[in-house]
Amino acid sequence: MTAKAVVVGAGGGIGAAVAGELAARDYAVHTVSRSRTPIADCGGRHWCSDYSESSIAAVVEAIAGSPGSLERLVIANGILHGEGFRPERALEQIDAAVAQQIFQINTVLPMQWLAAFSSALKQAERPRVAVLSARVGSIEDNRLGGWYSYRASKAALNMMLKSASVEFARRNKRAQLIAFHPGTVDTALSEPFQRGVAEGKLFPPSFVAQRLVGLLDEVPTTGDLLYLDWDGKPIPY
Ligand SMILES: NC(=O)c1ccc[n+]([C@@H]2O[C@H](COP(=O)([O-])OP(=O)(O)OC[C@H]3O[C@@H](n4cnc5c(N)ncnc54)[C@H](OP(=O)(O)O)[C@@H]3O)[C@@H](O)[C@H]2O)c1
Repeated sequence: MTAKAVVVGAGGGIGAAVAGELAARDYAVHTVSRSRTPIADCGGRHWCSDYSESSIAAVVEAIAGSPGSLERLVIANGILHGEGFRPERALEQIDAAVAQQIFQINTVLPMQWLAAFSSALKQAERPRVAVLSARVGSIEDNRLGGWYSYRASKAALNMMLKSASVEFARRNKRAQLIAFHPGTVDTALSEPFQRGVAEGKLFPPSFVAQRLVGLLDEVPTTGDLLYLDWDGKPIPY
């Protein structure tokens, strides 16, 4: 049977590269990215969505109607900075509206997509799901402080994924979920923060995409969430 792959957030640097890598490995790849219209078939298995609840449901239904079993799901959405805001460096910079926006996009939205695809994943042979997290979401690893909302949104994402992996262990024992840290990758998200990055440590998206797609093929089924970096090494929560 055709193996299907879905990349949500495929308009971003990492999402686009992951979609390309999955296509190179012969998956029937469906991509989803943001648009102003609720849902549109943007051609060639590309879906445009406004990420509203009804749009998410409609995109998932449309993909479910295409041939193949959903064996790979990668959710790449995430923001660190935006119009009028940068990551906080001090407590006084925490802004409730900004924090809520970051939590909505980094924590809630990926879980909405995962929930919407859960029934397709339940029927899959050996499904592998990766959600883009970040090492700065590790509570144990936080020695520098700052970046309150981004760090907390990724820590909360990891907790939600942990609960989801407990649920998947009952729903489909062959499924494996990964909270993935890609390293520092040369995309719009990291662009303002690239100056201090050591030589050779700013990865092109294509490198990280190869690592992630390879990891999805190799990783065993553990029945538990894996929090892994681009090198396949575990990160403490
Ligand atoms: N780059 C790094 O160094 C780095 C390091 C650690 C973790 N990460 C994580 O990797 C993931 C991908 O980031 P990237 O580096 O590829 O950044 P990017 O090129 O800026 O891509 C941003 C991603 O977030 C989504 N997004 C942006 N604004 C959004 C909004 N208002 N509503 C919903 N989705 C929105 C985009 O979705 P559309 O495709 O729909 O536009 C896209 O998937 C993020 O979760 C990020 O936290 C990146």
